[in-house]
Amino acid sequence: MAVEHVTSDASGTFKIGGDLEVKRLGYGVMQLTGKGVWGDPRDPEEAVRVLQKAAELGVNFIDTADSYGPFVANHLIKKALYPYAEDLVIATKVGLTRCGPNDWRPVGRPEYLRQQVELNLRDLGLEQIDLLQLHRIDPKVPLEDQVGELAAMKKEGKIRHIGLSQISVEELEAASKITDIVTVQNLYNLANRESEAVLEYCEANQIGFIPWFPLATGKLAKEGSPLDQLAKKHDAKPAQLALAWLLKRSPVILPIPGTSSVDHVVENIAAAGITLSDEEFETLSNAVSE
Ligand SMILES: NC(=O)c1ccc[n+]([C@@H]2O[C@H](COP(=O)([O-])OP(=O)(O)OC[C@H]3O[C@@H](n4cnc5c(N)ncnc54)[C@H](OP(=O)(O)O)[C@@H]3O)[C@@H](O)[C@H]2O)c1
Repeated sequence: MAVEHVTSDASGTFKIGGDLEVKRLGYGVMQLTGKGVWGDPRDPEEAVRVLQKAAELGVNFIDTADSYGPFVANHLIKKALYPYAEDLVIATKVGLTRCGPNDWRPVGRPEYLRQQVELNLRDLGLEQIDLLQLHRIDPKVPLEDQVGELAAMKKEGKIRHIGLSQISVEELEAASKITDIVTVQNLYNLANRESEAVLEYCEANQIGFIPWFPLATGKLAKEGSPLDQLAKKHDAKPAQLALAWLLKRSPVILPIPGTSSVDHVVENIAAAGITLSDEEFETLSNAVSE
């Protein structure tokens, strides 16, 4: 396969909230910050090149959060891609605070969520956020207050669509009574399918499902992984097979593989051009134990 020439168009599109069309294979920016998702990346110029290469290869769905860095990832997106292409959809998140590398704490007080929405708007240079996801539900704050504040900001025009992250079917149902929830971002990949019930709920209700850690933070990308044999048959890399498996698993799945390298972003986007047969899909599903 001539990897450089495969674009994200190949895996088709999905309409977020029924009206915001994105190519299904996107890009997640978390790997573009420093160690522990804290501070600047080792090579800021390469980070900018990764974002520009993703856009050049047709990616129009980018996942971020003001807590990545914090603020670093959003500044890089603006530096690399502003002024934005008309069809670019930036999904961001609020609801987690940072106190150092690898330290994440949920804060869902309405005034804090409002501040984060404003900071995302400011740092990304946007007047409206296309997709605003609640990064984590804060167990110390009533759900109505958290989702209610986001719904209020949607009415004010600052947010177009609302999504949730790392939630159960029960939480999704409860939040959907407060406002329309159009996406869910949960941990899900070939090796970890604990969110299967949430995915099935999303499929039944045309809710976009954004699997985070689509490559199991690189574990599924390693040579010698159970994906290797089939990857060789497709003249592909294990990471590409892990993404092709997600794309085939459901039309509501929108993978956002993360990488800090231009070579890997090209490789990952080329996964959009790999179609697994039903038999190959089953073989992979059975070969990689959960
Ligand atoms: N909602 C949430 O709570 C949550 C939590 C975590 C992540 N996320 C989102 O999900 C996105 C994806 O998750 P992630 O980036 O943490 O994990 P991931 O996509 O599963 O894996 C990223 C890791 O895989 C490596 N990798 C990527 N492509 C590769 C390739 N072609 N060959 C070999 N290695 C490869 C990367 O290293 P290199 O940099 O060397 O390529 C990196 O170490 C994040 O960027 C973020 O936007 C959301």
